[in-house]
Formats: sequence, C-alpha cells, structure tokens
Amino acid sequence: MSETITFDPAMRDITVRMLSYLHPLFMIITVGLLALVFKEGVSLRQARLQGVSSRNRSLHTRLAKIVTGLILVGAISGPISAVQLRGWDAFESIHSRITLSVVSVCILTATLGWLLEHRQFQRPSVHGWLGLLTLLGATAAFVTGFVLLP
Ligand code: HEM
Ligand code: HEM
Repeated sequence: MSETITFDPAMRDITVRMLSYLHPLFMIITVGLLALVFKEGVSLRQARLQGVSSRNRSLHTRLAKIVTGLILVGAISGPISAVQLRGWDAFESIHSRITLSVVSVCILTATLGWLLEHRQFQRPSVHGWLGLLTLLGATAAFVTGFVLLP
C-alpha cells in the first residue's frame, strides 16, 4: 500500500486530484441523507409506539429508496475511482471491506422496508435496528474514507 501511495497519480496531477474528490463528496452528501432517513424512521417508530397511526411515511420511504440507490452508485464509483484515478488495486483497503458490508446491510434494510411498506412484513423494529446498523456502518465508511483522501 505504501508503494502505491508513493506513485498516487492524484498527488502529481491537479485534474486527477480534483476528480478523485468526486466520490468522497458524493458519498458525504449520501451519508448525510442517510442520517435524515434514519431520523424520519425514528419519528415513525415514536409514532408507532405512541399508537399514532396517521403519521406520513412517504418522506422516509421515498428518500430511503433514493439513498439506497446512491449507496449502490457509491459502491461502483469508489473502486472505479481507486483503480482509474489513484492507480490502486481494487478492494484492498479497509474502507472497501467496511463499505461492502454497509451495502449488504443497506440492501437487507431496504428489502425489509419495502416489505413493511407493502404489509408483507410485520416486524418494524427488526428493520429499524438494521437501519441503525446501516447508519453506524456508513459512519465507519466516512471515517475510513477520509484516510484515503489525496
Ligand atoms: C457508504 C458509503 C460509501 C461506499 C459504499 C464507498 C465505497 C467505496 C469503495 C468500494 C471504494 C474502493 C476502495 C478500494 O477498492 O480499495 C472507495 C474508495 C474511496 N472512498 Fe468510498 N465509499 C463510501 C463512502 C465514502 C466517504 C464518506 C468518503 C470520504 C469521506 C469516501 C472516500 C473514499 C476515497 C478517498 C476512496 C479512494 C478513491 C478515491 O480517492 O476516489 N468514501 N469507496
Ligand atoms: C427502501 C428503503 C426503505 C423503506 C421502503 C422503508 C420503509 C419503512 C416503513 C414503511 C417504516 C414504518 C414502519 C411502521 O410504520 O411501523 C419504516 C420504519 C423505520 N425505518 Fe425504514 N425504510 C427503508 C430504509 C430505511 C433505512 C436505510 C433506514 C436507516 C437508515 C431506515 C430506518 C427506519 C427506522 C429506524 C424505522 C422505525 C422502525 C420501528 O418502528 O421500530 N429505513 N421504514
């Protein structure tokens, strides 16, 4: 790894350096939106526990679908950026291992969320705890991503 960092193209070329900030910037926004999805989910949980059934779910469900898509885009753009712009071998970093776990948990959370939405799954708290795990994993992705910045 130290050898690849020495020959990192982003250290020598300003255009490559700027392009290599695209994935991180995009993902910082995505993690921010994920936190908003989680906050809305917690509001839904509070309403459920208080027996208030009329709370609008649509902000949570719509934004969650967009954010799930953005995380998938991030999982593709990260390795492309790492290989094409930084000259690394793909999936060698701790960041990649953490983020691939986040992607898996997020897909599971979204699948259960979709089933909840269509009343084919009756355990919202399982979905909620997986949502918390997704957010914690995304926070770890954030921390380990910063270390990789050029
Ligand atoms: C859940 C969100 C994220 C996913 C799914 C994701 C995914 C990935 C993947 C798979 C790689 C390739 C690593 C390798 O092949 O070893 C990568 C690279 C990278 N990621 Fe992320 N990432 C996420 C969030 C972030 C965040 C929040 C940051 C910055 C704060 C970040 C910064 C980086 C950097 C700097 C690289 C190296 C490539 C480059 O310089 O563009 N990532 N990411
Ligand atoms: C396609 C993606 C998703 C869909 C369709 C979805 C759908 C839903 C629905 C319908 C509920 C309401 C359950 C109820 O009213 O009883 C809910 C609750 C919740 N969601 Fe999601 N969700 C998605 C993704 C996410 C993600 C990514 C997170 C975390 C970041 C999350 C966190 C939560 C939490 C914490 C709750 C409260 C659970 C509880 O009541 O105990 N959801 N979701």
